[in-house]
Amino acid sequence: MADKKRVAVVAGDGIGPEVISEAVKIIERVRETHDVELELTHFDWGADKFLNDGITLPDGALEMLAENFDAILAGAFGDPRVPSNKHAEDILLGMRRGLDLYINQRPVKLYAENLTPLKNRSIKEIDFVVFRENTEGAYCGAGGFLKKGTADEIAMQEELNTRKGVERIIVAAFDYAQKSNRKKVTMADKSNVQRFGGDLWQRTFKEVAARYPDIQANHQYVDAMAMFMVLDPSQYEVIVTNNLFGDILTDIGAALQGGLGMAASGNIHPNRVSLFEPVHGSAPPLAGKGIANPIGAILTTAMMLEWFGFNEASSAIEKAVRECIENNETTKDLGGSLSTNEAGTAIRLRIADCGLRI
Ligand code: NAD
Ligand code: IPM
Ligand code: MN
Repeated sequence: MADKKRVAVVAGDGIGPEVISEAVKIIERVRETHDVELELTHFDWGADKFLNDGITLPDGALEMLAENFDAILAGAFGDPRVPSNKHAEDILLGMRRGLDLYINQRPVKLYAENLTPLKNRSIKEIDFVVFRENTEGAYCGAGGFLKKGTADEIAMQEELNTRKGVERIIVAAFDYAQKSNRKKVTMADKSNVQRFGGDLWQRTFKEVAARYPDIQANHQYVDAMAMFMVLDPSQYEVIVTNNLFGDILTDIGAALQGGLGMAASGNIHPNRVSLFEPVHGSAPPLAGKGIANPIGAILTTAMMLEWFGFNEASSAIEKAVRECIENNETTKDLGGSLSTNEAGTAIRLRIADCGLRI
């Protein structure tokens, strides 16, 4: 019997609950088919709770998560009724920063040629992983207003780059390249303009790269990378970059694999409680219609299972996803005609019993 893993599920807002409900059913399926022990506990944090009782991330939540859970599976946060985005900031960025989840690992993987908007690209040519720094950069929340509301208003938005923060994400990218037998790490920055932060990233990248002589270390300015990602994504194996650039580049990456509905991510601190969530947001125009693609959330679940060491269950999910795509058992965004629920069910039905349970 495998060790039991405890997962906090926070479905969140908009399409979050719709896609997480499919992800949870996939977990129920792999519990039957594989040697996987997971205990799920649901939390209702999100816009409704904030609007009803003013609570975003409850007091003590971070300590509770760190103490009682091995991972968090989240949907999405963001609601047009909360234009300030206050609850999403407290809950999502609160967990990323508060639990020190410094690695935002976002795979960009094409599952079928017809899904990419690029011409003549095979699945082998779109297969890389972005390591996005996840606790500092432009997301540090530092800044302020002067003369707010006047014609002379000044808004300052600062960016934080610490030696430790930059080094640990670069190390994570090289470690991953080494473990996964990838041969190249490309760093994206804007060091031609951001002279201070950029300089720190450049120096740290060179120092860390020297410790990994078998891995090629490459650099691109982020604007060029945005272009090359579209023109020639096959050159990338592992990308490392800061918080904001990683946010933007991974939406391009999602588009390369068939859209935001396809993209998975993990917010990770090795050996600590970590947070897994699809890359997409709450997609208000799709919410409540039962048309959102659940694959991003389902591949995110596979990523979480792999992180736990449940590799066979994770591969079985990925295989089922691939088969559904090949058989056009998909939602509208991928060219199919299934609802969220039907697409989730199709994947679930394709997860074969591996016969390994005791
Ligand atoms: P979004 O990712 O919610 O949606 C953008 C568009 O992508 C959608 O309109 C839809 O066309 C497509 N899309 C996204 N997910 C899809 C899915 N599962 N299936 C099919 N199509 C899908 O981004 P947005 O519109 O910029 O943001 C909406 C809200 O979500 C905002 O409040 C934003 O802050 C928030 N947000 C939250 C997260 C998160 O919680 N991790 C991530 C991104 C955005
Ligand atoms: C993401 C999202 C978040 C981010 C928002 C909702 C704060 O866009 O997870 O990519 O910017 O990191
Ligand atoms: Mn984003």
